[in-house]
This record gives sequence, C-alpha cells and structure tokens, in this order.
Amino acid sequence: MLLNASGCLDALATPEVARAFDAFVTKTVTPLPREGNDPTRIAETDHGLLNSIGLQNPGRERFLAVVLPQLRGLGLPIWVSVGGFSADEYAETCSRLSDVTIELNLSCPNVDEAPEAASEIVAACRAETPLPLYAKLSPALPDIADVARAAQAAGADGLSLVNTIRGLALDDETLRPRLARGAGGYSGPALKPIALAAVYVCYRATGLPIVGMGGVSTGRDALELIAAGASAVAVGTALFTDPGAPHRVRADLYKAAAALGFEDPLAARGIAHAPASQLALSKRTTNKTPAYTAK
Ligand SMILES: Cc1cc2nc3c(=O)[nH]c(=O)nc-3n(C[C@H](O)[C@H](O)[C@H](O)COP(=O)(O)O)c2cc1C
Repeated sequence: MLLNASGCLDALATPEVARAFDAFVTKTVTPLPREGNDPTRIAETDHGLLNSIGLQNPGRERFLAVVLPQLRGLGLPIWVSVGGFSADEYAETCSRLSDVTIELNLSCPNVDEAPEAASEIVAACRAETPLPLYAKLSPALPDIADVARAAQAAGADGLSLVNTIRGLALDDETLRPRLARGAGGYSGPALKPIALAAVYVCYRATGLPIVGMGGVSTGRDALELIAAGASAVAVGTALFTDPGAPHRVRADLYKAAAALGFEDPLAARGIAHAPASQLALSKRTTNKTPAYTAK
C-alpha cells in the first residue's frame, strides 16, 4: 500500500496526484485552528528539506464540517492525522471521527508545547474509538522501540515511522538561520537511513503493521523499508519536486522486487531480519505473508 506522508500533499488542489495513492493521509488536525509559524517556513538543503510549518490547519470543527466531506469526494480511504497538546485533546478528536484510519501525530518538532507521553495519548484515544489507530513517532526518540512497544500495549494497531528530525540551515551570506524559527524538521533523502533503522527496530519489537516513510523517492527506497519491516510506504518530500512520484515509485517497487526474485513487494516484508540461510530458502514466493515474521 502506497500513501502520501501527512502534510506533503494538498489533495483538493491536486486530486489526480492524490488518486495515485491507495489512501489519502490528511495534514495534522488540531482542536483549534492554527495559522502556523511565521515565514520563512521551508528551506531546501543539499540532502533534504527543512520545514517549520507549525501545524497550520483549519482546526477540528472546520475540518469535520467542510474539509473531510470534500476529501471523501476523492473516493479514497482517508487517514486523518490527529494532533493536540494533551491526551484529552487527541481523544476528543478521535471520538468525533468515523470511517477513517487515525494516525496520531505524536511527533511534531515544530511546536513548542510538549505533548503527554505517547502511551498515555494512545490509551486515551483507544478508549474513545474502535477505528484503526496508527502511532506516528519521532526518529529522535532516545529508544523508539521502547515507545513503539508502549504504544502497542496502549492499543495502537500500527505505527507510522518516521516524522522529520530537527535540523538547521544557515544563510550563505548572513550565516543566520534560513527558517524564521531557527531549527525545523528535516525530511527527504538524508532521512532514509534513519527511517530504515526505526522501522527495523520497531518491527522486531512489536511485529505491528508499519507505514514506513522518510526519504522515499524511488521504488528501491520503498522496497528497503518493506525489507526492514514496513507493510506500507509513504511518500512525502519527493512530492514537492515530482508529482509523478507515486506512479513512478509504485512501478519501480514492483520492478525492484521482481529483480530480486520476489513475486510481490510484500513478500520481502521483514526479509532484512532473516538469517542468511533463511533468505536463500525463502525464495520469495509468499504473497502478502511476511517472508520473516518478528518474534
Ligand atoms: C512541509 C511538510 C509538512 C509536514 N506536515 C506534517 C504534518 O502535518 N503531520 C505529520 O505527522 N507529519 C508532517 N510532515 C512529516 C511527513 O509526513 C513525513 O513524516 C516526513 O517528511 C518524512 O518523509 P519524507 O522524507 O518522505 O518527506 C511534514 C513534512 C513536510 C516536509
């Protein structure tokens, strides 16, 4: 399954790009509207993108009344990215949603207020909704596997890995930060090894379904995240330079998997964890079933 990464695609402005995905993930929605941070909010760097959007969004009420009904018009499954500054805020938004998958954004580096512990938020949301709940985690956590385990114990159905990591870019001339807020969230190619490591350890720790993301711009990138343990892959920053990315990544993913003898890309799920002997044996005929399952 191929998704867009939250905040990287305006589906209402470019519905044809959104429809190239298997589901649409919204920008994070908070209880109150947020104007976001002051410009400059985006800076390109050599190996990735820095942003400090600051969770700009119309707020929960307008989202539910206006935006979500419009998004349903896309005819795609919708994933709503939910944000907040307390477990109660997250839980209330969850209680108001139906017929969507929920991605809990537990990891935005561009807001000052620190949210409560991930497990507390997941538990509060679990108590309010039977909908599928994915916990989106920061790659900067000291022990991401530990937090993933805690989220699983609190009732998360899956994980979204990873959000951006804090970075800073300085202006060539003034040597001052290029973003108005100084540091921002770093995404794109430089994030890929970090995302791979997060997916790898969280798959091993939990065995949960995982949406892998971070620097995906080719089919090979997607295949590697699947090999590390992802069951779905999201494309974010690549969309800013290539609206054709979803078609291309999907087609290349099938080719890259086939070139290595996998009948289906998901047959490679978790293969990075397999002992070398099992790798040869598995010769890759499974369909949808993980080639190697986390303990
Ligand atoms: C401009 C921009 C806005 C983003 N907004 C959100 C957001 O609202 N919620 C969220 O969970 N992640 C947000 N992200 C993070 C992405 O969803 C994704 O986790 C991250 O960018 C890594 O994937 P990528 O390297 O493919 O972009 C944003 C990223 C960018 C670049």
